[in-house]
Amino acid sequence: MNHFQTVAKVGEIPPGQGRCFPVHGTMVGVFNENNRYFAINDFCPHMGASLSDGHVDDGIVMCPWHAWRFRLSDGAWLDNPKSGICTPTYDVRIEDGDIQVNVPPPDDDADTDNAASVPSSEPS
Ligand code: FES
Repeated sequence: MNHFQTVAKVGEIPPGQGRCFPVHGTMVGVFNENNRYFAINDFCPHMGASLSDGHVDDGIVMCPWHAWRFRLSDGAWLDNPKSGICTPTYDVRIEDGDIQVNVPPPDDDADTDNAASVPSSEPS
């Protein structure tokens, strides 16, 4: 379902960096990777650091606290791909110079694909 909301203007997020925005009660990290934009849940599945503060390179963000690496395109935790741990991702579009992200409201039962995914056997 379409819940696109403007979070910033093009140019406000420098290439190679991320910024965090609250959208429908979710903190969303929006990243500029060579002028392609990606949006993921900003809350690191490990211990909750802000992923938008992490280093971005080659489509990957590294968590600033313990260096877990997440692929911006699908949120996969790259240090142990078989774990199934990932952070939710959201669609991004540019409309009239605005960066917009599609984050469902918490009461939108139709959009459950973006639920956090952390298996019960999460490593410490
Ligand atoms: S809080 Fe992100 S790797 Fe530990």
